[in-house]
Amino acid sequence: MPDHPTRAPIDFVSGAWWGSNPHDDLTWMRANAPVYWDGSVWGISRYADIKTISKDPATWSNAQGIRPDAGPMPMMIDMDDPEHLQRRKLVNKGFTPKRVRAREDEIRAVCDGIIDRVIEKGECDFVWDIAAPLPLIMIGNDLGVEPEDRDQLLEWSDALLCALTGDPQHLERATEAFGGWTEYAGRVIADRTANPRDDLMSVLCHAEVDGDRLDLGELTFESLLILIGGDETTRHVISGGGWQVLNDRDQWNRLVADPSLLTTGIEEMLRWVTPIKNMARVATRDVEIGGQVVEEGQKVLLLYPSANRDETVFEEPFRFDIGRTPNEHVAFGFGTHFCLGNSLARLELRVMFEQLLARMPDMELADRAEPAYRAANFVSGYESMPVRFTPGAPVG
Ligand code: HEM
Repeated sequence: MPDHPTRAPIDFVSGAWWGSNPHDDLTWMRANAPVYWDGSVWGISRYADIKTISKDPATWSNAQGIRPDAGPMPMMIDMDDPEHLQRRKLVNKGFTPKRVRAREDEIRAVCDGIIDRVIEKGECDFVWDIAAPLPLIMIGNDLGVEPEDRDQLLEWSDALLCALTGDPQHLERATEAFGGWTEYAGRVIADRTANPRDDLMSVLCHAEVDGDRLDLGELTFESLLILIGGDETTRHVISGGGWQVLNDRDQWNRLVADPSLLTTGIEEMLRWVTPIKNMARVATRDVEIGGQVVEEGQKVLLLYPSANRDETVFEEPFRFDIGRTPNEHVAFGFGTHFCLGNSLARLELRVMFEQLLARMPDMELADRAEPAYRAANFVSGYESMPVRFTPGAPVG
């Protein structure tokens, strides 16, 4: 295995490393060691190699889990085709373009409710008051969680995500969270099976593809994947994207003057933030990638933030530009596991920024220093971001 005596060793499992937003190391890797061995897993840093791997799931398997340091769970992201595709078709019944489009009014009302709660104060924490509630409320509504149980849902989602980082100290909390979710979801699933409503859980309970349906265990795990996959990810793009445009007043003002720029602006926020830092694959045979031989059974880690700053693909990749085109980022991954919730996430992002620009056009950062990142090796973003604005009146 190659080593690099002039560099401090990189540990892809280290939450502290990811929490430091390690673009210097990633840039060095793309230039000098695009397939980097950290002692237990290969880090893939170039855009082209990440796409090659994502396009070839027969060689690069998900079935041993998508974390570098933890095994698989019985959910579609940890499966290979054809089982994965069958499961995905069933869950996809809840994410058809028509169903997602139909939610725009609901999302706008939720965003207005979130803004109403702080607009009279003239200040708030953008992460906890603006960014975090939207995906949580949307997923809660989808999965049949009562409004008074949303804090509980946040606690479960956080505990389970922490456990996915493989840190044993989170295991007890995660086991409790898993037990709590299984019981809660079990009650909702029983209810929606008998009395379907207009929510995702009802669609999933009744979805049928070629005579196949999701059983109780499958419903519990796939809804859990939706909870883990859609909550913090969307939050971090709202807050990280928000910081970029507020920090560069000119870009914020351009958006206030012409919110249609959000079409490209949201894609740039996704590229810039890339809240899912990596996904693992296992080689099913000895295979060469980026000039290295990866042996059968070894794990590789697709380093999405690195691909999204690859200078061979993006012009001036370290410049944040709300008008960037083209912008073929891989924040949602690529290939057969491409994010199932991407349209919903994009809609949530657009509508939230539309409402913020319209209702808080003079919003500004209360602290110009960039906020700290969460020290986590899977999903990471800002922990807190105080902002100020002229107080306004609630609309609700
Ligand atoms: C900005 C927000 C989001 C980002 C950046 C994101 C990113 C990703 C990424 C990188 C993957 C893996 C893709 C691959 O391996 O090629 C993924 C998969 C997935 N995401 Fe998202 N996601 C987001 C929001 C959501 C939302 C809102 C939901 C659901 C409500 C969701 C549900 C899923 C599911 C179910 C999968 C697994 C798909 C499969 O295995 O076929 N995600 N997402």
